[in-house]
Amino acid sequence: MSAQEHMHLGTCYYPEHWPEEIWTEDARRMAELGLDRVRISEFAWSRIEPEPGRYDWDWLDRAINTLAEQGLGIILGTPTATPPKWLIDRMPDMLAVDRHGRPRKFGSRRHYCFSHPGYRAECARIVTALAERYGQNPAIAAWQTDNEFGCHNTTLSYSESAAAAFRLWLAEKYGDVDALNRAWGNVFWSMEYPDFDAVDLPNLTVTEPNPAHMLDFRRFSSDQVMSFNRLQTDILRTHSPGRDIVHNFMGFTTDFDHHAVGGDLDVASWDSYPLGFLEQFPNFSAAEKHRYARQGHPDMAAFHHDLYRGCANGRWSVMEQQPGPVNWARFNPAPLPGMVRLWTLEALAHGAELVSYFRWRQAPFAQEQMHSGLLRPDSSEDVAFGEAAAVAAERRALPGPEAARRAPVALIFSYEAQWLLGTQPQGQSFRYLELAFAFYSALRRLGLDIDIVAPDADLSGYRMAVAPSLPIVRPKLLAALTAFDGPLLIGPRSGSKTEDFQIPDTLPPGPLQALLPLKVVRVESLRDGLTVEGEEFSVPRWIEHVETEIAPEHSAGERGVVFRQGGVRYLAGWPDTLLLDRLLRRMADEAGIETLDVPPDIRMRRHGDCVFAFNYGPEDIDIADILPDSAVDRMVIGESTIAAAGVAVWRDAG
Ligand code: GLA
Ligand code: GLA
Repeated sequence: MSAQEHMHLGTCYYPEHWPEEIWTEDARRMAELGLDRVRISEFAWSRIEPEPGRYDWDWLDRAINTLAEQGLGIILGTPTATPPKWLIDRMPDMLAVDRHGRPRKFGSRRHYCFSHPGYRAECARIVTALAERYGQNPAIAAWQTDNEFGCHNTTLSYSESAAAAFRLWLAEKYGDVDALNRAWGNVFWSMEYPDFDAVDLPNLTVTEPNPAHMLDFRRFSSDQVMSFNRLQTDILRTHSPGRDIVHNFMGFTTDFDHHAVGGDLDVASWDSYPLGFLEQFPNFSAAEKHRYARQGHPDMAAFHHDLYRGCANGRWSVMEQQPGPVNWARFNPAPLPGMVRLWTLEALAHGAELVSYFRWRQAPFAQEQMHSGLLRPDSSEDVAFGEAAAVAAERRALPGPEAARRAPVALIFSYEAQWLLGTQPQGQSFRYLELAFAFYSALRRLGLDIDIVAPDADLSGYRMAVAPSLPIVRPKLLAALTAFDGPLLIGPRSGSKTEDFQIPDTLPPGPLQALLPLKVVRVESLRDGLTVEGEEFSVPRWIEHVETEIAPEHSAGERGVVFRQGGVRYLAGWPDTLLLDRLLRRMADEAGIETLDVPPDIRMRRHGDCVFAFNYGPEDIDIADILPDSAVDRMVIGESTIAAAGVAVWRDAG
């Protein structure tokens, strides 16, 4: 990593949307505001190549020069999320096909199938052309590949190209078709295939497709995103060595393995729209949606900061930061005054290298004309402009990204778990992402810092680890869990399936029986409102019947719910907040990690030599109870009473 003293600030700019006469003034105002990065060109294919093979570089050359003259480092986007009309007309079968078998039409964006060989060749061509032209240009600070892989449900495609590529993928994986038939259990319902060419995609079946078929299709689809991205990163590395390559991931998106794609990136970035996500995603209760309508859920942004920090060796950014009301959620309120500053400082506190605001100026035309920016359509300053200016000044007194350190707690997150449990949930409220988020929130309410890590991560150095659910336990994971010597919490359904989506011979938790001698002999899913009552806590959604010699640490009714041997605990049900809080607090004590009673709307984070506290509530909160002695003398920002949407930062005494 190149030395970076302070977090960068940037914006997303579309020179092709504006008359050239105002570019210079725009660039000057960006620099004056304190921005040092600008992302451009990720949707500009129809202007870069108006006709097949005819490139128009002049405008882009001038845009890059104009921005660079103001000292802005440019993040150049490859335009492959928006193939132009002439390309679709030449290759109509490059469109993705939805699960009902309908092609997805031209007229917005992301209208392509990851598996189409002709489209891949066109992407290689346009990326090579861009990289040859700008790869050595000193103004180019980084590249962004495509835009938001998977957005608008575009990871899975049921096209002919996808079917052909899937057959090859299966042949490679299984070698002979009998192995596939055995792995999937195709004797059930006479689903046996005579050869790989006979296998189709798992859509439009009469009732549910074979879950093993579905899981392999999901693994394949994730691999297609990975190889599509790698096609671009290989070209960019050849023509533009030494520049960072970034992709902008999204929130609550699990259709492809971000750890795998992140392995080909230098920096993982994501697009943070706290209000849109709160409104749009079903996991939050009506009460939460109401209380946090203008702030976003207090753990939403941080969850993704910590998740994506684990995707590209610790380097990560926010490529798009919500600046005000967006256009795409069911309801689009305005952030509380101060929230844009809070979100930006929170990203800083989690070690971001860059926060870039989407977008510089609100567009008066097309789909996103109701989406705010730093400037209004008439170029006057919108609210976020002043908040960005405030952070531009404040960041100089705060630690930069290189001050980031390892958190004490690891949360193991698995995309494959999401695919598997989503394919066969067994109860409609067993939602993996929600379970992982609940673990994360509970840890944060204790004031703990968390690293979210991949299932094959090295756990050494962490003092405590939690795995909300890991249905498939491969040997490497088992070895890491076995070697781990801090308190470890393993959630329900872990070890419940083999890699082939079958029940293990020894019953769940399968390979984890090496850590805990117990057997899950039956599982129940519980409809909303039906719970099993424990001592003060209750178990909603899911409970397992366990046979074991180990005396339970916690029970509900007749059932043991938490089993412990040494430092390892197994959770045989869906935990409510009370049970999670108790367990995690106890584990932190065992690990010698200090916990706090953080007020419900406050969240904390340690970064470098600073401690940050963020008020996500709509009222002022006094944090005197959790401020260490004499911290008031070490305040960098704010004071003991934090205003709504406010931030306090103090230097750590130690
Ligand atoms: C996404 C996209 C942007 C824009 C914003 C609007 O994050 O990457 O192009 O559509 O959403 O919020
Ligand atoms: C989806 C995504 C957002 C944003 C909008 C824009 O809803 O989740 O990040 O890109 O689309 O339309």
